[in-house]
Formats: sequence, structure tokens, C-alpha cells
Amino acid sequence: IASQPLRGLTVLVTAGPTQEPLDPVRYLTNHSTGKMGYAIAEAAAELGAKVTLVSGPVSFEPPQGVDVVRVTTAEDMFEAVSEAFAAADITVMAAAVGDFRVERIAQQKIKKDGRDSITLNLVSNPDILAWAGGRKRDDGSQILCGFAMETEHLIANAAKKLAAKHCDMLVANNLREEGAGFATDTNIVTVLTPGTSDPKTPQIERWNKMDKTVLAKRLMLRLAAM
Ligand code: C5P
Repeated sequence: IASQPLRGLTVLVTAGPTQEPLDPVRYLTNHSTGKMGYAIAEAAAELGAKVTLVSGPVSFEPPQGVDVVRVTTAEDMFEAVSEAFAAADITVMAAAVGDFRVERIAQQKIKKDGRDSITLNLVSNPDILAWAGGRKRDDGSQILCGFAMETEHLIANAAKKLAAKHCDMLVANNLREEGAGFATDTNIVTVLTPGTSDPKTPQIERWNKMDKTVLAKRLMLRLAAM
């Protein structure tokens, strides 16, 4: 049916922040609220898809009719995505995944002990989107969409990610722009897709400021058409 272009398809969405524990009482995280990813999961379900939402800790209720896998750390998120990815026809990674975690989580609360400074030794987390990009089905029947949030050189960085992570679409949003980014109801995005003649030169479309729910539906319709 025209109103349900995703009927019969499986959609996997990541959303929200991750939390990387330092000790039993503290963690590293970011300002993601999950709003964009939850709107995408909801739009996909409304358009008829079977939806799995892998979500970091957020304060929203999951959308109706969506399967939610709750995770805390980037490694947990990676595990959940690696179980669901092969079955997904369309994957949208909107989560703000922590790039680093502490090498060793302290078993007890870290104490000041009269010190003026301490050093946290951080190691990198798996790049879930890059992993997925490397394991797409050979027949091109899996569509992968990533997000990018930058504070500078937005388009250049997004173009690099589109290619390096083998995405079919990369949605770039600039943290510095009014009405875009974390915790807002609206977003302003630039949508990059691989160029048709020269894959190194992406096609770039700037979309006007719109509500995240409207944006989510447009994105899903665009991905459905792909
Ligand atoms: O490279 P960067 O982190 O800016 O890329 C952002 C995109 O990659 C987002 O789609 C995000 O969900 C995804 N990502 C990921 N795993 C990471 C880091 C980012 O899936 N460890």
C-alpha cells in the first residue's frame, strides 16, 4: 500500500547516548536525548516496517509497536546491533556512541585522596557504523544510514564518513546551528549520498529546518525509495 512503503521490511535503529562507567558511581556520556532516533523508529513503524530500536539510556517511552533493546555502553550497543544487523533491510544509526571508555573500570569509588589531578586512561570503543558498513550483504539489498554531528567542517567530515563507513546516506547536523542538534524539537540537516557517476563526490542536499518527527518521516521515505 502507498501509505506503508516499508511493509515487509525490517528496520534497525540506534538511538540515544551511551554511558561508559568510570567506577560504580560515575560515567562518561554526552548530551544526546534520543529524540531523533526515537522519531526515526516511530516513523519506520508507521510506514509499516518491523522495527528494532537499540537504545542507550533515555527518558522517553519507546514508540508503539517497536521492539526495544536497552543498552548502556558502546560495547553493549555493538553486541545488540551485531545480533540484529544481518536481518535488517534498512539500518539507521542515530546514536551518539561514546568513542572512548576507560581501560579499567574501578571496582570501588575513585577517591580524591588529596590529589590535585588524576589521569583517566581511555581506549577506543568499536565503531558500530563502520562495522556494519563492512558487512552489508553483497547484493546491495541492505541500506545503511549514518548520522554525523560536528562543530566544524561539517560537510567535509560527513563526506569522509559516508565513504569510510560505506554508508548509503549520511545525515549531517551542525551542533553550532540554532534549531539543530541535541535536545531540540527541530533539526537542520544536510543529506549526503554517494555520487552516481563519481562515488568520491557525494550528492549533497541541505534540508530546511523542520520538526524531528517530520524529518524522520522524510528520511524513512527516502530510504524506502532507495
Ligand atoms: O565518526 P562519528 O562518530 O562522528 O560517526 C557518527 C556516526 O557513526 C553515527 O551514525 C553514529 O551512530 C555512528 N557511530 C557508531 N559507533 C561508534 C561511533 C559512531 O555507530 N563507536
